[in-house]
Amino acid sequence: MRVRPFTEDDTERVIRLWNDCGLTRPWNDPRKDIARKLTVQPDLFLVGEHAGDVIATAMIGFDGHRGWVSYLAVDPEHRGNGHSTALMAEGERLLIALGCPKIMLMVRAENTAVVSLYEHLNYVAEPTVLMGKRLIPDQ
Ligand SMILES: CC(C)(COP(=O)(O)OP(=O)(O)OC[C@H]1O[C@@H](n2cnc3c(N)ncnc32)[C@H](O)[C@@H]1OP(=O)(O)O)[C@@H](O)C(=O)NCCC(=O)NCCS
Repeated sequence: MRVRPFTEDDTERVIRLWNDCGLTRPWNDPRKDIARKLTVQPDLFLVGEHAGDVIATAMIGFDGHRGWVSYLAVDPEHRGNGHSTALMAEGERLLIALGCPKIMLMVRAENTAVVSLYEHLNYVAEPTVLMGKRLIPDQ
């Protein structure tokens, strides 16, 4: 798998991948999420390409204090080959190059199985209450 920045030509494939990976939600329009990301640190929106096909994504950002990862996804047919590990390693490398001291990520409550993947990558669950407030509705 070759890791490279997302380009607009990847849009349809990436949305299909996110749907196949169960990452889309009615309140998050993936097209709007992509369009917004292309306005802020677009080089940190990573895709993994294999045999000409996009099979993985990781949307990464640095807010000046913490780095964040969203939309980590690997095509179901390509899982278990270390692709998410490789994407996360590249994301961490890019964040360190920007001087980012810590990387954070959110796991949906119903997706606890993936916690063991992150533990495998040396992430630790933190005693934090995550709170959010929608500022711009997508619907
Ligand atoms: C989670 C996901 C990205 C993992 O991708 P992957 O390329 O298969 O992961 P890797 O091959 O790099 O796996 C790394 C390690 O974590 C383990 N692992 C991977 N996915 C796991 C899961 N869902 N549950 C438990 N362990 C998992 C692997 O066994 C592997 O361990 P090993 O090296 O000892 O064998 C992929 O399953 C996916 O796209 N899931 C749906 C979307 C999702 O949940 N994304 C995360 C949102 S927070």
